[in-house]
Amino acid sequence: MKIALIGYGKMGKTIEQVIKDQQRGDEIMILDRENMSAARLHGADVAIEFTRPDAAIGNIHLCLDAGVPVVVGTTAWLDRLDEVRAAVTARSGALFYAPNFSIGVNIFFEINRRLAAIMQQQPQYDVAIEEIHHTEKLDAPSGTAIRTAEVILAELPRKKGWELAGANTVESALPLLITAKREPHVPGTHVVTYSSEADEIQLIHQARTRRGFAEGAVMAARWLVGRQGVYEMKDMLAL
Ligand SMILES: NC(=O)c1ccc[n+]([C@@H]2O[C@H](COP(=O)([O-])OP(=O)(O)OC[C@H]3O[C@@H](n4cnc5c(N)ncnc54)[C@H](OP(=O)(O)O)[C@@H]3O)[C@@H](O)[C@H]2O)c1
Repeated sequence: MKIALIGYGKMGKTIEQVIKDQQRGDEIMILDRENMSAARLHGADVAIEFTRPDAAIGNIHLCLDAGVPVVVGTTAWLDRLDEVRAAVTARSGALFYAPNFSIGVNIFFEINRRLAAIMQQQPQYDVAIEEIHHTEKLDAPSGTAIRTAEVILAELPRKKGWELAGANTVESALPLLITAKREPHVPGTHVVTYSSEADEIQLIHQARTRRGFAEGAVMAARWLVGRQGVYEMKDMLAL
């Protein structure tokens, strides 16, 4: 396959290495800020986009213009998902997005869904989320923390929405609080804690390297070729 990598930062470079290590004879085209255009995309079988929150939607439109299916890993643009979904449908295009492409994190989402359903019967427990990422990360909370919160909120109606914890956060049992920490070199850690006066239960996902995200994104790219529409990890993985 001819695979266009849009964005050649930490993730773009890890994805390039995964594709090379798979030794399937794929051709890789690298498109960064300076040389990104619909014309440059022509001939690609699929594109993988990991750039920055303010660039993702423009790049999705360039892929639709070029008729190239696109896998998007960039986070913090999902508030415009409806508009993007409409554009994909109107252009008969193909988009695969995930706030987190790691298989382990998607299993973590599913375990959280099941645990939240159990906890709906146990009102003595409160729940909170903590995420830790490297200091260059632009968005907070992480897309993965937001997705984790959405999964929990869908099963736990006693919590009303999520809120990013800050210095001025008022203590309240209502919103699901997400604490975001930034520390050097952390690829991504997410901790869900249920605590009661008697005890505490924690679910932790700790990425060791970026490789897990990259492998999931490449798997999604191979899966997306030949499909039309908007897809997520749950469509590809039988979780
Ligand atoms: N879904 C997942 O599993 C997952 C996993 C990890 C990270 N992420 C997300 O992926 C995104 C990228 O992460 P990263 O760690 O790779 O960031 P990064 O190291 O900062 O790399 C981003 C790259 O995108 C380039 N870029 C910026 N604007 C562009 C544009 N308009 N067109 C093409 N390229 C452009 C940047 O170039 P310049 O240096 O010139 O700005 C840089 O090379 C972030 O949103 C992050 O949260 C998602």
